Amino acid sequence: MNGRFVTLEGGEGVGKSTNLSLVVELIEAAGHTVVTTREPGGTPLAEEIRDLFLGVREEPVSGLTELLLIFAARAQHLDTVIRPALAAGSWVVCDRFTDATYAYQGGGRGLPTAQIEVLERLVQGDLRPDLTLYLDVPVEVGLARIDGREHDRMEREQRVFFEAVRAAYLTLASREPRIRVVDASRNLAEVQADIRGIVTGYLTGVAP
Ligand code: TMP
Repeated sequence: MNGRFVTLEGGEGVGKSTNLSLVVELIEAAGHTVVTTREPGGTPLAEEIRDLFLGVREEPVSGLTELLLIFAARAQHLDTVIRPALAAGSWVVCDRFTDATYAYQGGGRGLPTAQIEVLERLVQGDLRPDLTLYLDVPVEVGLARIDGREHDRMEREQRVFFEAVRAAYLTLASREPRIRVVDASRNLAEVQADIRGIVTGYLTGVAP
């Protein structure tokens, strides 16, 4: 039987890594094998594309170039890691997926949704995440949390960009029942209690 595809999304400074570990722990505790991965990246080639994508450079990077790089990495990741894992019955927990493309390249860069949809269909066919946790924090809170460390090309964007990213995520979440919004501005214990509830509830509904 096919495994399930769980993704974690959020803006900058929302604490995705810590909470990703919790999600993996909960799914493993229910007896499933979990493949943990991330986007852009997750294979050697896709990680090279990630470096190209996030590297700070003088040349301005067009929104369409970003979109094509992201989907090139995603095609490789899907074909060599995600689909084989799901087919083998493993669950896949992925740090970001195509919702991030709608949020960053759609909301942030202003690319038309139709362009993203075309590539989504080409690269993914019908494959969509089964469950997505969107960790939400107000932009100023997230940016304050990443203050003081070196910023990649995306993290160097202006606040208005991240406001558009957040708005796009919230719009997606309001349309897609698979996306569960977690208020990640609270302390870690409260955030994790929420995540525990959502993931445990989902696991209960899944046939063994
Ligand atoms: P992260 O691994 O720290 O979350 O960084 C990945 C960055 O890449 C983050 O700034 C969001 C960005 N990104 C996009 O712009 N579009 C995408 O489709 C994905 C998956 C990530």
